[in-house]
Amino acid sequence: MKHLVAPSMLSADFANLQRDTEMVNNSDADWFHLDIMDGMFVPNISFGLPVVKAIGRHARKPLDVHLMIEDPDRYLDDFHNAGADLLTVHMEACRHLHRSIQKIHSLGMKAGVSLNPHTPVNALEAIIREVDLVLIMSVNPGFGGQQFIPQAFEKIRRLQQLIRKSGSSALIEVDGGVTTANASDLVDAGANVLVAGSFVFKSDDPPATIQNLKQLKK
Ligand code: DX5
Ligand code: ZN
Repeated sequence: MKHLVAPSMLSADFANLQRDTEMVNNSDADWFHLDIMDGMFVPNISFGLPVVKAIGRHARKPLDVHLMIEDPDRYLDDFHNAGADLLTVHMEACRHLHRSIQKIHSLGMKAGVSLNPHTPVNALEAIIREVDLVLIMSVNPGFGGQQFIPQAFEKIRRLQQLIRKSGSSALIEVDGGVTTANASDLVDAGANVLVAGSFVFKSDDPPATIQNLKQLKK
């Protein structure tokens, strides 16, 4: 499949959210990536349910919601009601991950699981067939604009092997420090979805940057 591009609204202008949401609507982007941070699982606080709802009122593409929060089971219903199409929880934040995934599916959403840079891919063995997406963090979660951790390449390759071996249909998403300098190699390694925040929104021409990430001229 052709890879997907999911701009992270964490780097949007929060005082112009409707404008930036329309920019993504009118661009080559495939999904909206929404980063929820609770100040506990990660050291930063981003935005919550009212902002997801507000973006959802204008968005004409799926909402890919990345929960960087402790014990996300407490909020799965709320994010569904806020308009999430795909809900990703962190393996490190879930005591009963299988139950969390089941609950996300029972609410009618796609379910993703995310791995921090220190969590090995083989930790997914018992859950890989249940999930629609695996999000490989290529920075330590919590902030936009950090430097890409190259070890992510090896994790993507291993994950692709695991997906093939297990017969899973999970997509591989990579998040953190993605730019046109590493995007082609990430897709070659097996990434299906590229998340990019600061590289898109801090660029002079965000729609053109999204187009570049989508077309990946080598
Ligand atoms: C980081 C978030 C990312 C972040 C990526 O914790 O999960 O989605 O927005 O930002 P960039 O692309 O700037 O690294
Ligand atoms: Zn994210």
